[in-house]
Amino acid sequence: MDIPITRSILLISLLLVLSLIGPSFARPNTNADSDDLVTNVCKKHENPGFCIDALKSDPRANTDDLKVLANISLELATFNATGTKVKIHSLLLASRDPVLTDHLNKCADSYDIAVYYLGSAQESLKSGDYLDLQVLAAGAADMASDCENTFKGPPPYPSPLSTDNSNTWLLGEITVVITNLLGVDGQ
Ligand SMILES: *[C@@H]1O[C@H](CO)[C@@H](O)[C@H](O)[C@H]1NC(C)=O
Ligand SMILES: *[C@@H]1O[C@H](CO)[C@@H](O)[C@H](O)[C@H]1NC(C)=O
Repeated sequence: MDIPITRSILLISLLLVLSLIGPSFARPNTNADSDDLVTNVCKKHENPGFCIDALKSDPRANTDDLKVLANISLELATFNATGTKVKIHSLLLASRDPVLTDHLNKCADSYDIAVYYLGSAQESLKSGDYLDLQVLAAGAADMASDCENTFKGPPPYPSPLSTDNSNTWLLGEITVVITNLLGVDGQ
């Protein structure tokens, strides 16, 4: 009986030590539910709060499948980019300023490309080509950034699309983060 008692004392001491070190050591894996997948993904995003809010706006985010999260992020980015495209066209119709019109025309081109990239990215996700998926999602994010930079000039003009460009950029970057976790680098 000596050995089991010694062992259980050791175990109890070990658990005590572990609980002093920190909850993550004392309770390994018990929190590995889907909430943690979104949290773990979003920890690697430049704006974790935005990332969590965006992914959790979709009930399918309650998953342990990264591909489902990639799908959600692509759908959100596509929805945003398409909405921004529509907004650009209505701003173009209303514009009486040649500088604004010029910048908006450049943005219309950028967003045509962004929407095209995001459509191709859906195909890459379906076929499991995560490197293509990453390049296309990063490319779409860059298009939003290009649009924003256009307004910095020359000549400069206050951007009417800052929020939209920021949203599209940040949503594209969620897909980029997910593709890193899916193993683009062969990790
Ligand atoms: C764009 O994304 C943001 C953040 O997820 C969201 O609040 C907004 O409603 C979206 N807009 C469109 C047009 O999808
Ligand atoms: C994303 O999810 C929708 C709805 O579940 C599905 O129809 C679509 O095929 C999915 N797309 C990809 C690329 O997996």
